[in-house]
Amino acid sequence: PRAHLTVAAEPVADVDPRLFGSFVEHLGRAVYDGLYEPGHPAADEDGFRTDVLALVRELGATTVRYPGGNFVSGYRWEDGVGPREQRPRRLDLAWHSLETNEVGLDEFARWARRAGLELVLAVNLGTRGVQEALDLLEYCNVPSGTTLSDARVAAGTPDPHAVRMWCLGNEMDGPWQLGHSTAEEYGRLAARTARAMRQLDPSVELVVCGSSSAQMPTFGTWERTVLEHTYDVVDHISCHAYYKLTDGDVASFLASGVDMDRFIESVAATADDVKAATGDDRTMTIAFDEWNVWDAEHYEAQEKRTAVDDWPVAPRLLEHSYTVADALVVGGLLISLLRHAGRVRSANLAQLVNVIAPIMTEPGGPAWRQTIFHPFAAASRLARGEVLRTSLRADRLTTARYGEVDVLDAVVTRDEAAGHTTVLVLNRATDAPTVLTVDLAALGAVGTVEATTLTDADLTARNTLTEPDRVVPVPLREVRREGATLTLELPPASWTAVTLR
Ligand code: AHR
Repeated sequence: PRAHLTVAAEPVADVDPRLFGSFVEHLGRAVYDGLYEPGHPAADEDGFRTDVLALVRELGATTVRYPGGNFVSGYRWEDGVGPREQRPRRLDLAWHSLETNEVGLDEFARWARRAGLELVLAVNLGTRGVQEALDLLEYCNVPSGTTLSDARVAAGTPDPHAVRMWCLGNEMDGPWQLGHSTAEEYGRLAARTARAMRQLDPSVELVVCGSSSAQMPTFGTWERTVLEHTYDVVDHISCHAYYKLTDGDVASFLASGVDMDRFIESVAATADDVKAATGDDRTMTIAFDEWNVWDAEHYEAQEKRTAVDDWPVAPRLLEHSYTVADALVVGGLLISLLRHAGRVRSANLAQLVNVIAPIMTEPGGPAWRQTIFHPFAAASRLARGEVLRTSLRADRLTTARYGEVDVLDAVVTRDEAAGHTTVLVLNRATDAPTVLTVDLAALGAVGTVEATTLTDADLTARNTLTEPDRVVPVPLREVRREGATLTLELPPASWTAVTLR
């Protein structure tokens, strides 16, 4: 197959660095026996693993959403602050686990700062409401001089956490969610909570819950109703999406970005419709605060612990081992998010450590990068600045799920500060290389060209405890430049990052 990409000098949107966010939930071994493991040879004095911290930094994530996910809908944040020996042990109904509260807000905020991650907090609107959200905001953002801010100071955090972005609950449209509500009920509660939070701290940025997926029966009407209640008091509406390989249909799987494009565009259309109806002049932007490859339905179908006397601490849950194909899809989803950078101002790869994660750990043992680590790290490092206008002419291939799609997908960014242009490209053809020509004439002179690609003859290959670097990006040799035209021979089923300086 062949494709031709023309790059214009004209930017379509700036890339908000928060597009490369991550997510840590109190779930399985994400926190305990994951990023936190006192007694591990690499643990620091606070019990956090320095080897995991180093990988988080290398991943290049910019924000971390915390502490859930479904977990937050039953969480009492006060349980996790103050003297550790006095912290309660609680039932976590979302994941049928025992929460020891050994790690709570202050420890996690300190860890996030060391990891270079901006903390994004979710409030519990499942079992709680306005007052508890206000209490948490006071604890975090008021410098001192009130009972809750002084409690933070006394607990060893003199400076406020200064949390800017807040999620108003999590997936409240999902029947599995503690406190699951109708759009009407949730919309009213979210509006009351948002107004109150803004009265306390007008600088907060608020994310209202959209749908848990575009496949939810209430998708569309949920967004409309919730925004009718909240449009004037929130800043972003959330999207969540998990993609999976179904019945071995690799072609459709590699085209998952098509679904993400449609999802973003239909949420934007609904939001614009509410904007027109309410007469508000602000455009509602999107926080895509959970996205990844994961088979959530398979998880739902599994037999689970339900016994009242069986509440394990940090069980192995959602420990998905990612393949090459999964990494290509993650790379494709990053292209979709970047293409919509004007509308999607924040996104969070779900999640960060052990739980559907780019980073895995073994208790007492090593930490390693899953396949999906690599496209995320490359995009976060290279695709900053502005997204440039492009036009693509490409051969088409047929997929069972999305019909005819372009054989490849691409996005181009220009980072003036770093002095480079980046082309990210997913080759969806699985049986032959695709020859891509890129017309760079509009960009003026281009000096050096570097390209790395993620590909493998075995699309099921993974990185594991015993073979942690089985799948890594390799230099792409088939690159030619003649004048302002770049020619790349992209291996079948590959994700490539090209940097032009
Ligand atoms: O990321 C795992 C779970 O997926 C989250 O807890 C929930 O919000 C979503 O359904």
